Amino acid sequence: MSLPPGFLDELRARVPISRVIGRKVVWDQRKSNQARGDWWSPCPFHQEKTASFHCDDQKGFYYCFGCHAKGDALTFLREADGMEFMEAVKHLAAEAGMTMPEQDPRERQRSDRRGELLEVTEAACRWFRLQIQTGAAAEARDYLARRGLDRAAQDRFEIGFAPGSRTALIQALREKGFDEARIVEAGIAARPDDGGAAYSRFRDRIIFPIRDGRDRCIGFGGRAMDPNARAKYLNSPENPLFDKGRNLYNIGPARSAVAKGQPLIVAEGYMDVIALAVAGFEGAVAPLGTAITEDQLRLMWRVSPEPVIALDGDTAGQRAAQRLIDLALPLTGPGQALRFVLLPAGQDPDDLIKSAGPGAMAALLKQARPLVDLLWTRETEGQRFDSPERKAALDRRLQDAIAKIPDELTRRHYSDEIRRKRRDLFGGDWQRRDGKGRHGRNAGAGKAPARSGNGMPSFTPLPTAPPDGPDGAGSFLEGACLLICALRTELLASVETRLERLLPRDSGRAALLHDLLTGTDSDAGRRALETLRADAHLGLTPNLIESQEAENVLAILGNLFDRLEAQRAAGAELARAEAEIQGEADEGLTWRMQQITRARHRAERPDMEDTGDLNEDRDALSAQLEQFLSGQIWRKPPRG
Ligand code: UTP
Ligand code: MN
Repeated sequence: MSLPPGFLDELRARVPISRVIGRKVVWDQRKSNQARGDWWSPCPFHQEKTASFHCDDQKGFYYCFGCHAKGDALTFLREADGMEFMEAVKHLAAEAGMTMPEQDPRERQRSDRRGELLEVTEAACRWFRLQIQTGAAAEARDYLARRGLDRAAQDRFEIGFAPGSRTALIQALREKGFDEARIVEAGIAARPDDGGAAYSRFRDRIIFPIRDGRDRCIGFGGRAMDPNARAKYLNSPENPLFDKGRNLYNIGPARSAVAKGQPLIVAEGYMDVIALAVAGFEGAVAPLGTAITEDQLRLMWRVSPEPVIALDGDTAGQRAAQRLIDLALPLTGPGQALRFVLLPAGQDPDDLIKSAGPGAMAALLKQARPLVDLLWTRETEGQRFDSPERKAALDRRLQDAIAKIPDELTRRHYSDEIRRKRRDLFGGDWQRRDGKGRHGRNAGAGKAPARSGNGMPSFTPLPTAPPDGPDGAGSFLEGACLLICALRTELLASVETRLERLLPRDSGRAALLHDLLTGTDSDAGRRALETLRADAHLGLTPNLIESQEAENVLAILGNLFDRLEAQRAAGAELARAEAEIQGEADEGLTWRMQQITRARHRAERPDMEDTGDLNEDRDALSAQLEQFLSGQIWRKPPRG
């Protein structure tokens, strides 16, 4: 359904966001400033005692500094109340006293059709539930008992039974007034190819009703009890109700559990989810008989910033986990992470809980490993890196993988982490050969800077050169960093990571950087250094730099890097925002662009001589940087 332009803005402006959120939280009266529309409370999306959840009536946004939940009033209704977008719009419109625009007839038809199909699935669900009490279901009840599913668990998950009859369910539904076409479209019955009468899809199976985030029965999974059955599980086919790639089993109850502080656990199957929930891990979900999709990842992230993937410890499960790495990398970033639980070989969560108890599961959850670990393991496990070519091949694979991460800060941290692991794998630190700096000054007492390993080319973290300010402020900051590092090589180890990210555009400076990082000397590097020494613009007197306490020099360096990185991040972000604005009109975008531009101007101010106020200045800078980062929170994931 399309809304007239400005409708959503009007909606948001009419209802203060604090009124919407105030129904779910208790404001911290001391911290909040009611008159200014500035509200704080403990976060409704994660368990906490302090009030790190912020809500701003002026901007119409909320943001949690703890779990990074963020959004506007509509997001809140979707995430805290599980509404769908249009439902949230209607809800808010009613509150604002605004009339909803007429629905487009085709859309209305579709949603009416879905409503009709839902009546069928709900009726079928009730019927399956009734069947499990009958004499015909004695074997099914035994089966469930053997699998440890008591009556309470059966009720909670609405477990049902489909008897062997091909027609009983269809008949029962037709008696309720549902026509055959509707029963077939809802996925409950199938028509044979030869055009004969429709027959029940699920026969002689335990039935797991599947509900969406709004608690509507959209389909079923059926478990055969006969170990020789052709398919162990049979699921409803795709239909207007049942979109396997966009739903997760148990998502509704899991969302509530996550809101109460439980982790979101992603298992492979229905029985795992039930076993987990019964054992107290109530934030459990599973895909619906298919591999996890991008839409499902996004759905998970709307519920939790860090779902824990607990796939089976068999080869299929592990292969699925590997695929998930590639699927997740291009999407990962703050608030969109993954962790992985490694289950014992051949076991799924259900098996583990049965054999070793909930405690064993809890212990594994505690050791869940981040995505970066799995990436590293996948690329290195079982291999020997005993030649330059093999090492280079590894570097290439890792670089390619990291380059897929869209978020710049996340990408950097991946690089840092991978570099650490790489250093551990390839052995001890590379020692400086002469123990002193090359460009004049003696190195500090034996403190050799850590190296990325055996003279290997250092791992380059950024796939693209960061954009520079048009006015050369970035060039100034970069030059200052390089000069100081060249003059005080004993400090290199402390800033090595940041130095590696400089990626100077100028080839002389690039040579100098390379020399600094590898402890070598090149003509181009030496010439670049002379240019920097002589550059009065830098406002750095080499003598002064050489005679300063190391601590002071490090403070200056830190400040320079902070500014440079803030400026580059802002530049990249601005470019991305500009590209985005051409695609879609995102209401938060204008505001965000202003923030970025402002942060960037601040970062570019090259008032370097002012070293007296360094700390104050740095605090101000980091506050600005933080503001810039929080600008990202208005960036909404594309709806699709
Ligand atoms: P598993 O084979 O791992 O089953 O399939 P499970 O969850 O351990 O089930 P139990 O313990 O044997 O009862 C995991 C999921 O894959 C889908 C189902 O969604 C199942 O829950 N699946 C499996 C199918 O769709 N069809 C199949 O034939 C098998
Ligand atoms: Mn199992």
